[in-house]
Amino acid sequence: MERVVILSGAGLSAEQGLGTFRDKDGLWTRYDLEEVATPQGFARNPALVHGFYNARRANMRGAVPGDAHRALARLSTHGGVTLVTQNVDDLLERAGARNVIHMHGELSQALCHACGHRWQAPDEMSPEDLCPACAKPATRPDVVWFGEIPYHMDRIEDALAAADLFVSIGTSGTVYPAAGFVDMARHVGARTVELTLEPSGAIFDDVRPGPASETVPAWVEEVLSHGLGK
Ligand code: APR
Repeated sequence: MERVVILSGAGLSAEQGLGTFRDKDGLWTRYDLEEVATPQGFARNPALVHGFYNARRANMRGAVPGDAHRALARLSTHGGVTLVTQNVDDLLERAGARNVIHMHGELSQALCHACGHRWQAPDEMSPEDLCPACAKPATRPDVVWFGEIPYHMDRIEDALAAADLFVSIGTSGTVYPAAGFVDMARHVGARTVELTLEPSGAIFDDVRPGPASETVPAWVEEVLSHGLGK
């Protein structure tokens, strides 16, 4: 079985109502990311940041996985497939995917920035919450903010170094290190495919514009019927 690394971004979950960041009416057109997605913003106003993620968590918990999530979940049961996502939603897991690598963390998790304890996030988090392990009022959403180090980079770099095929789904390719993964894959001789609504403009061997609900199931079907080599 060939080894494939699949990177997804907000476009994978856009049709499920979770929105994107940089499209028109995207999250960063409505919120100032400095205020709600940086450690400095959190330090300045933790209630505002908790409110932002509480709303996104509620939106996520009200959403359902789509055909693209289910197709990736089906593919993920085959050996040699590594699912990496920039998304903090749990739609891939709820579609049945296993071992999803969330490089920007997960909305469903809470983190204590005093002791490092992680637990299932409640629907609503607030600055007054106490860490269930150390009892300090030091809880935050377990998501990676701008200026912080993405999670699991060692596992991601190992997978990219051995990839035969790299597929980028629903990401604008504007935020590093994820934006550089296609170059890392090409550097080791992997073939590269982009499945996104508006092509990012990065160099891929195969670019298939369109909604994830159509392009992803079609690509997975092609791969499963003809082998990953296509
Ligand atoms: N199907 C497929 N792709 C889509 C769809 C869709 N229905 N709708 C939008 N897209 C594509 C857009 O064309 C765009 O390329 O999804 C991409 C969304 O880009 P962004 O909004 O920049 O989201 P993303 O690339 O995931 O952002 C990366 O930036 O703000 C940080 O941490 C945040 O993980 C996020 C990172």
